[in-house]
Amino acid sequence: MLYIERTRTSIMHLIEIAMATSQTSCTILNPTPYSHKYSSKPFFAKPSYFFTNAKRSIDFQLSCKGGEKRALETSLRNKIDRRNVLFGFGGLYSAANLDSDLQLALADPLKAPEFSKCGVAKDLNKGGAAVDVNCCPPLFDKIIDYKLPHATKLRVRPAAHKARKEYIAKYKKAIELMKALPPEDPRSFTQQANIHCAYCNGAHDQAGHPGLDIQVHNSWLFFPFHRWYLYFFERILGKLIGDPTFALPYWNWDNPKGMTVPSMFIDSTSPLYNAKRNLANMPPTVIDLGLTGTTDDLQKVVNNLTIMYSEMVRSVNTVEDFMGKPYLDGSTTDPGPGSSERGSHATAHVFVGDPKQPSFEDMGNFYSAGRDPLFYCHHSNVDRMWTLWRDLKTPIPKDITEADFLNAEFLFYDENAQLVRVRVGDSVNNANMGYTYEKMELPWLNYKPPKKAAKSKVKNLSTAPNAAHVFPVTLNNIVRVEVPKSSKGKADELLVLEDIEVDPSKYIKFDVFVNDEDDESKELDKAEYAGTFAQVPHKTKNSKGKSSINLKLTQLYDDIDVADDDTIVVTIVPRSNGDNITIGGIKIIPAPIATFS
Ligand code: C2O
Repeated sequence: MLYIERTRTSIMHLIEIAMATSQTSCTILNPTPYSHKYSSKPFFAKPSYFFTNAKRSIDFQLSCKGGEKRALETSLRNKIDRRNVLFGFGGLYSAANLDSDLQLALADPLKAPEFSKCGVAKDLNKGGAAVDVNCCPPLFDKIIDYKLPHATKLRVRPAAHKARKEYIAKYKKAIELMKALPPEDPRSFTQQANIHCAYCNGAHDQAGHPGLDIQVHNSWLFFPFHRWYLYFFERILGKLIGDPTFALPYWNWDNPKGMTVPSMFIDSTSPLYNAKRNLANMPPTVIDLGLTGTTDDLQKVVNNLTIMYSEMVRSVNTVEDFMGKPYLDGSTTDPGPGSSERGSHATAHVFVGDPKQPSFEDMGNFYSAGRDPLFYCHHSNVDRMWTLWRDLKTPIPKDITEADFLNAEFLFYDENAQLVRVRVGDSVNNANMGYTYEKMELPWLNYKPPKKAAKSKVKNLSTAPNAAHVFPVTLNNIVRVEVPKSSKGKADELLVLEDIEVDPSKYIKFDVFVNDEDDESKELDKAEYAGTFAQVPHKTKNSKGKSSINLKLTQLYDDIDVADDDTIVVTIVPRSNGDNITIGGIKIIPAPIATFS
């Protein structure tokens, strides 16, 4: 089914164009009783009945005949903005006539890579030359479709800073045994680290699309991929120490009590230690999730809580804003990272990586991140964010229900060194996977920035040029532009930054503020902070796609009191490698309400 927002009057027109381009004619099967016949010739007269005021959304099914199904699909994908339309595939597999059913054409989830075709991954440029890394997995031909074992009792992942002595001893032993496995064993620490390199630095092409990288970051596959990755890593450790209840610790960086690198990782004689880290950022240094460069610990803590509140609640309008944008079979990489991935996730990587290494090894680059045991502890907290977000009481549907998402596949080796194919849909609920998280307070949950005292139109705000005259823009300097709101008065609006192009081999970061008078603020705990975009360096084999991100402005508008204004001033502050960041466009649109049925 296609679910369409009633206010998006151009959708039908786009479908019309798509049909024309692909010489296909489609019938809209419902909503009844308004079934309507379309062909590529005549244009419909009155689409208004699709957009009744009674419902926030409406669904219908297209049944298409003739022409090039694939071309229609591509054309639709390119033309229809997913911010306005959500594709769902409700009765997909029971549809009677799959050949002529558009739903099938649209349901093309990413396929698992073909390990036999794995090639070299790219490391960063070392002294100007690209260095190849071989991180391909060992080959066995038998692949089994993975079935989640029935969980009798949930494994509980503890907060690392609270972990007890006995637990740490067990964890150390498990990692030690994993490091002692022969490197060709797919369960060995070397091979486990390689998994990240292969899936993230262009070693695997998409099955059936030679020359198109698989990239599990910067899209909606980010959370599920890493969840499965840690799942098997954890089960292998459990098996090695003969303890099926063993669960990975999480680095509780969202809580002031956990805002330093957990101490178990810093003893240089421990198997949990890794030499390639930024020594300046080891305890007692407080993590700076904004990487603003502030040295004031208290400021870091309030920044961190503001960032957490922003990426979990304030800036998020739909499930895709949190999870990331759709990434499908045949898609170019990097459609757009979710708020958590481009926020706390990315900065914690860069915080730990060693700036003295050529490519910020180990944590500061995707190809090497898995070589640091701390990676798995960091990602355990990243994974916890997915769990916490799904449990938030915010009025947003929390699950992606599209088959494109649920049926995407990855390959991993399980704890018995058996190669298994897993499905994203099986990873949505962590309890079904047999584990949960030790409960900790969530001090960011209501960490709203203070409202701006009085509306002040001062200096640089009134002189900001119109965005239309400035974009596309490269962020070699702070960019400050005036952007028209989509409507006057109280409205749910989104700030959209589109066609973001970056040099992926660089650590990238910029922050976004609205009606902010300061230039380069190290203080993020203020009403004007709208969100961020950060990216961990990695090399791709093939070219990288363009990303877009949405930032919800509703609470921000309230907090800075701009209901009566026609425009706002957006400030984009480059924090790192701004000259390697280009943003194609900026706009404010009404916030679509995602509805699923
Ligand atoms: Cu796959 Cu945190 O990176």
